[in-house]
Amino acid sequence: MSATTISSHPTHYEDRIVTAFTMCSIIWAVLGMAAGVYVAAELVWPALNFEQPWLSFGRLRTVHTNVVIFGFGVSALMGTSIYSVQRTCHVRLFAPELAWFVFWGWQIVLILGGLSLLAGYNAGKEYAELEWPFDIAITVVWVCYAVIFFGTIAKRKIAPIYVSNWFYGAFIIVIAMVHVVNSLALPVSLTKSYSLFAGAQDALVQWWYGHNAVGFLLTGGFLGMMYYFLPKQAERPIWSYRLSVVAFWAFTYSYIWAGPHHLLYNSIPEWVQSLAMAMSLILLAPSWATMINGIMTVSGAWKKLRTDPALKFIVLSLAFYGLATFEGPMMSIKTVNVFSHFTEWTIGHVHSGALGWNALIVFGTYYFLVPRLMGQPLHSRAMANVHFWLALAGVMLYVLAMWGAGISQGLLWLSLDDFGEVRYSFIEVMEAMAPYYLLRLVGGLLFFTGAVLMAVNLFMTMFNGQTVRVTPPIAAKSGGH
Ligand code: HEM
Ligand code: HEM
Repeated sequence: MSATTISSHPTHYEDRIVTAFTMCSIIWAVLGMAAGVYVAAELVWPALNFEQPWLSFGRLRTVHTNVVIFGFGVSALMGTSIYSVQRTCHVRLFAPELAWFVFWGWQIVLILGGLSLLAGYNAGKEYAELEWPFDIAITVVWVCYAVIFFGTIAKRKIAPIYVSNWFYGAFIIVIAMVHVVNSLALPVSLTKSYSLFAGAQDALVQWWYGHNAVGFLLTGGFLGMMYYFLPKQAERPIWSYRLSVVAFWAFTYSYIWAGPHHLLYNSIPEWVQSLAMAMSLILLAPSWATMINGIMTVSGAWKKLRTDPALKFIVLSLAFYGLATFEGPMMSIKTVNVFSHFTEWTIGHVHSGALGWNALIVFGTYYFLVPRLMGQPLHSRAMANVHFWLALAGVMLYVLAMWGAGISQGLLWLSLDDFGEVRYSFIEVMEAMAPYYLLRLVGGLLFFTGAVLMAVNLFMTMFNGQTVRVTPPIAAKSGGH
């Protein structure tokens, strides 16, 4: 990497915006996880809502999911994609001023959107709860994001388009597509609209959106991050570049069909459910190909793995990626889903992906990225190591608690007495959940504490320096990406 300190050089990479996205995403991570811990506590002590609507489980849960996914996750994806696309294309960002519009636009949507959810405005579609004015604002910001990303690719100085850009690119295109279609609605006032779709059709469109938000945002986008930052951190090329490209196309082709696995045994055609189940099982292949490709890339850098906290996070995240993408296809099998659906097992699956995969890979990436952005060593390596163990303990407790809870729920709900009647009442099953909910809260608290440590550590690193100006190799006549 060619780090120079030529101030206000017109050809340097536009990295200040990466710093800005990184800072905001860390703040959103802390806020979103705090909301997660709070709703987890409400499930143990319901009185914690203090009978205030804005503190109720229903509102705070939505705030939690929106802040972690769109605040923490998307800000991290925008920042890291802007960082890596410039380096893999050997050019400065296309239209940097527009990029600042994307930054401010996205943060303003998040702040106002979060407040509107707290106030109780909700379009009633999971992960698409924001009302129509926000949907329009998101579309405008997203199109500008696409312009700067693909504009940078269009003016690239090296012919091949590196695989991380394929994943980031698919994330940008597919999220635009599913967001626009799923948000089609008839507004009746500034704060209320009704979906253009109805009944089973509405459910299908919603889960085509919801599933592909998981597929192309929480998975595809983060795979883009993995393909750039893992080889960088391990200081080794991708184990098999060919496999990464084959896996990309297999992943992109199969994910888009699998949405109806969220609607098994629902009022949608039987064949659509079976198709979704088959496509979900097929997905195991590209998912594991990617996981194996990542792990093999680290082989040979094992020594570094022992001491480098950033690499530890990234490798652990790959293990959880493997776990979640094995569990998902299993849950798509109709005979398994009859047992797992509506239970805490789904919540366990979600968080083995969200905490184990998404959050850990971002943590690892930031421990690598922030010192480089700032031209400073990490404030405290010891704190990062403590964070690693807190995160591992937290996610394990969370996921194990939810698996235990989910399997108990499934068994208790399906248990019949001698007369063929349901053996346990709803309230009895809820009572059996109490210890699991407490355990999840402890796990969540550990994970959250680790995230706060990271925030302190990274902000201390940032306060000691300012974003380094790095010139593209061709302009600087040195270095590689
Ligand atoms: C300290 C960490 C976290 C805690 C304690 C936590 C806790 C919770 C709780 C209690 C729920 C509601 C579960 C229910 O309705 O029964 C939930 C839902 C959810 N959380 Fe988290 N969470 C954390 C971090 C995250 C992160 C980092 C992400 C994403 C990157 C995430 C994504 C989600 C999603 C998508 C749901 C909705 C799941 C569904 O509807 O099936 N969470 N979380
Ligand atoms: C091959 C990969 C995967 C497959 C086939 C898959 C499949 C599934 C299935 C069958 C469900 C439960 C549907 C239900 O009964 O309601 C589910 C829920 C979910 N999965 Fe996955 N999964 C995969 C990977 C992941 C990953 C990596 C994440 C990352 C965070 C993730 C996040 C979620 C979320 C957020 C939900 C809850 C959706 C909701 O009901 O709100 N999945 N997945």
